Amino acid sequence: MESRKIIVTSALPYANGDIHLGHLVEYVQTDFWVRFQKMRGHRCVYVCADDTHGTPIMVRARKEGITPEELIARSYEQHTRDFAGFEINFDNYYSTNSPENYEFCKDIFARLESAGAYLTNSIKQLYCPNCKMFLPDRFVKGVCPKCGAGEQYGDSCDACGSTYTTADLKDAHCATCGCRDLELRESEHILFDLAKYKEYLRGWLDGHTPQDVAKKLREWFGDDQELLPWDVSRDAPYFGFEIPGHPGKYFYVWLDAPVGYLASLKNWCDRNGEKFEDWWGNPDAERYHFIGKDIVRFHCLFWPAELHAAGYEGPTKVFVHGFLTVNGEKMSKSKGTFIKAATYLKYLKAQDLRFYYACKLNGSTDDIDLNLDDFANRVNSDLVGKITNLASRGAQMLHKNLGGQLGEMDEAGRKLWQDALARSEEIAADYEARDFSKVMTEVRALADAANQYFDSMAPWKLVKEDPEAARKVLTSILNIFRVLTVYLTPVLPSYSLKVSKLFGEAPYQWADAAKAIENRPVEKYEYLATRIDKAAIDSLVEASKDTLAAAEAAPKPLIEPVKPTIDFDTFAKADLRVAKVVSAEAVEGSDKLIRLMLDIGEAKPRQVFAGIRKAYDPASLVGRSLVMVANLAPRKMRFGVSEGMVLAAGNPDGSLFVSSPDSGAIPGASVR
Ligand code: MSP
Ligand code: ZN
Repeated sequence: MESRKIIVTSALPYANGDIHLGHLVEYVQTDFWVRFQKMRGHRCVYVCADDTHGTPIMVRARKEGITPEELIARSYEQHTRDFAGFEINFDNYYSTNSPENYEFCKDIFARLESAGAYLTNSIKQLYCPNCKMFLPDRFVKGVCPKCGAGEQYGDSCDACGSTYTTADLKDAHCATCGCRDLELRESEHILFDLAKYKEYLRGWLDGHTPQDVAKKLREWFGDDQELLPWDVSRDAPYFGFEIPGHPGKYFYVWLDAPVGYLASLKNWCDRNGEKFEDWWGNPDAERYHFIGKDIVRFHCLFWPAELHAAGYEGPTKVFVHGFLTVNGEKMSKSKGTFIKAATYLKYLKAQDLRFYYACKLNGSTDDIDLNLDDFANRVNSDLVGKITNLASRGAQMLHKNLGGQLGEMDEAGRKLWQDALARSEEIAADYEARDFSKVMTEVRALADAANQYFDSMAPWKLVKEDPEAARKVLTSILNIFRVLTVYLTPVLPSYSLKVSKLFGEAPYQWADAAKAIENRPVEKYEYLATRIDKAAIDSLVEASKDTLAAAEAAPKPLIEPVKPTIDFDTFAKADLRVAKVVSAEAVEGSDKLIRLMLDIGEAKPRQVFAGIRKAYDPASLVGRSLVMVANLAPRKMRFGVSEGMVLAAGNPDGSLFVSSPDSGAIPGASVR
C-alpha cells in the first residue's frame, strides 16, 4: 500500500470557553481517525489551535480586568491540559494569534483584493458609547419585536424562536453595561463577494461535503437566490489582526480562524524540517476538516471560496458531525449535564468516554446522545465484561497456574483467531469511513465468540486435569484479545500500550494484528479497565451543577484586603457627588433594595437602587445627604435602571452604614 500524506484538522475552539463533553465529540473522533491513519503507516499530521480573536474575547478580558493576551494564554494552558487528559494527540496545537497566521491572512487578503473578490459598503451598526465599541448582535439585548419577551439577544428570540435584526429589537441596550443610549454608527466595511464564486461552489460541494450538507447548502443558492456578500472587517477596538492598508479595520475573527489551520501546519512544518508546499500545496496530499454542523457555512462556503479565489488548494473533504445531547436533552447547567472536560476527569476515565463515543459515532451528521446510564452499562458490560475480561482472566490464570508461559493455540482457538484476523480490512474500511460504531460492533461480536469459546472450554477446570490443554486455550484467548486490541488502538491508545507491554511488544501498528504470540512469557497483568461506579456519575453531575451560581454565592470577606495602589488619575475617574435624598421607598419584590431619588444638582433627580433595606427604614433617609458615584455606568435591574450608587460602609457582621458629608455640603458638590 502506498503511503498517503494526510492533513487533518479539528475546528479551533474559542479561547474564551472551557472544553466540555460536546467539544470532545469532535476532538475524540478526529483523534480516532488520525491514530488509525498513522497505524496504517500513512504520514498524517493533525493540527489545531485556539481561536483567539473577536469581540467576546475582548469583552471577557475587560470584565476580568486582564489583557486579551493574558486571557488567551490562560486558555491555552487549560485547553492543552484538557486535551492531553483525553489523549487527543495533536501534532501541533497552536494559536490564531500568531505571526504565521497574520502572514497567511495578509497574503490571502492581498490575493483576494487583486482578484477583485472584495466589495466595500457602508454599514450601520450599533455602538455603545459607554463600552466604546461596536456591538455584535449577541452583545445587544432587548424586547423581542414578535412576542414581547424581554432580555432577548439582538438576532433571535429564545422564547419564540423568531429571528430579526437589531434595528427591529425594542428597548435595545448594551448586554455588557446596560447602556440604552446606543448609537447607530456608520462605517466602511469590506465584504467578500461570495456570489462571484457561486458556480464554483455549486460544483465543489458534491464530493467534498456530506450529501445532506451539500443538499442543504445548495438550497440556498437556487438560480434566483444570490449568495450575500460576507462582511469580513470589523472596526476598532477589536482584538484581532489589523487589515493592511485599512487602518482601524480588523479582520473579522471568522476570516482569520480557518486560516489558523494553515498557520498551525506551517508552524509544524518549520519545527520539523518540512516544507509547507509539500503538504498544503501538494496536489497529492489530502486535507480534511472535522467540524460540527453549526459551522458548516464557514467551512463549506466561505472557506473553499476564499481558498479557490486566492489560488490555494481547497479541502479534500469536510467531515461534519452532529451535536451532543446528554440524557436526550441539550446540555444543561442547572441539570448538571453541561460537563466540562476537566470536571469529568476528576471522576471518570478518559478511555471510558472515548469508548462510548466510538460506540455512538457513525460518520453521519446526526446528533449523538450521551445517556449516562447507558454509558455506565456499555463500559461495564462491553469494555470491561466482554473485552477486557478476556485478558484479565486469561493472563491471570496463566500466571497463577502455568508459570506465565504461552504455549501454542489449539485448533478451535486458532480458527477463532483467524476469523478475527480476517476482519482486518473490513474494520479498516469502517475506520476510514469514520463508522466507528461499526468497528465497535465488529469487535464486540468477536469478543462474544471468544468468550463463548472460553466458557465452553472451561480452562479453570481443565487446568487441573490437563494443564497443557489449558495452556492452549489461554494462548488462544490471549491471541484473540491481542487482535481485538490492535483494532481498538485508535480508540483506546493507552489501553493498547499496556497490552503491548503485557506481551513484551512495541506499540501496535495495524499490520501487527497478523502476528501470533506463542511459546513466550507474558508479563504480570495490570488492570486495563475498571467498572464505572454509578456513584461516580452522580458526583460528576452534582459537581457540574450551576457552577457559576455557586461561585457567586460563595461568601465574600466584608473587610476587603488592601488593594494595590492606584495613581491619582485613576481615583479621579470616580465622580463622587453630594446627593440629597428626595424620596426613598422600599422596592416591592425585593427584601434588600430601596429605591432612592437623589438630587445632585441636575435638572432631574437620579434613580438609584441601594441594597440597604435591612439597615434603614426608607422614610428615615429622606432629606439626608449621602455620597454618590455619579458616573457609574447605568445598570439595568429587574425594577428599573440604577443610575449610580451610594457609598456605605459594611461591617463584617453585615450591618451597613451610609456615609454622609457634614452639613453645609450642597447637592452636586464634588467629593474628593
Ligand atoms: N472557533 C470556532 C471554530 C473555528 S474553526 C476555524 C468554534 N469554536 S467552538 O469552540 O464553539 O466549537 C469547536 C467545535 O466543537 C465546533 O466544530 C463545534 O461544532 C464543536 N462543538 C461545540 N459544542 C458541541 C456539542 N455540544 N456537540 C458536538 N460538537 C460541538 O466554533
Ligand atoms: Zn456597553
